[in-house]
Amino acid sequence: MDWIFALLLGYALGSVPFGLLITRLAGAGDLRSIGSGNIGATNVLRTGRKGLAAATLLLDLLKGLAAVLIASRFLPEWTWLAALGAFVGHCFPVWLGFKGGKGVATTAGIAFGLAWPVGLAYAVTWIGLLLSVRISSVAGMTAAVVAPIAALLLGRHDAAGVLAIIALLVLFQHRENLARLRAGTEPRVGSGKKP
Ligand code: G3P
Repeated sequence: MDWIFALLLGYALGSVPFGLLITRLAGAGDLRSIGSGNIGATNVLRTGRKGLAAATLLLDLLKGLAAVLIASRFLPEWTWLAALGAFVGHCFPVWLGFKGGKGVATTAGIAFGLAWPVGLAYAVTWIGLLLSVRISSVAGMTAAVVAPIAALLLGRHDAAGVLAIIALLVLFQHRENLARLRAGTEPRVGSGKKP
C-alpha cells in the first residue's frame, strides 16, 4: 500500500495551482483567461507582474522538490512514484477539472530532488535557452528531454526512467506550443506579444 501513499503525496503537493492562486490573490485576474491560459510562471509574467511570476516559478519548483524529498525520507522505494504523482498533479489537478500546467518548473524541483547534478543540468539548459533563444516552451521542453539523458550519463538509471516518462508528458503538454512553433507564432519572453 506504500505506493498509494507515495502517489497521493506527490499528487496532493503537485496539484496546488500556485500560479492561479497567487495571481488571483494579487487581484491580477484569472490566468486561464490571460495569454496562453496556462497556469505557469511564463503566463503569470504576461500579467506584467514579475514578482508574481518569480514566486510561481519558485513555489511550483518547491512542490516537486518537496514531494521527492518527503518520499525519499519515508517511502524511499516509491520516490519515483511520488515524483510522477507531483508532475501529474500539476498538469492534471482535480481541483481545476484536470486542466493544469505544463510541468516545467515542477520537473526542475523533481530533478533536483532525485539527483542534484541532474537538476543542475536541467537548470543550466533551461536558463541558458531562456536567455539565448528567449522562447519559454523551447527552453522547458529541451530541459525536460536533457534530464533523463543527463541521469543516464551520470549512472542514475533510477531517476532516468521516471524523468523519461515526464519528458514525454512535458512534450504532450506543450502540443499547442509545438503548433505555434511550427506556425512561427510562438512569442518570445519579454516581447509583449501574446500567444
Ligand atoms: O512552462 C510553460 C512554458 O513552457 C510555456 O508556457 O504560457 O508560453 O504556454 P506558455
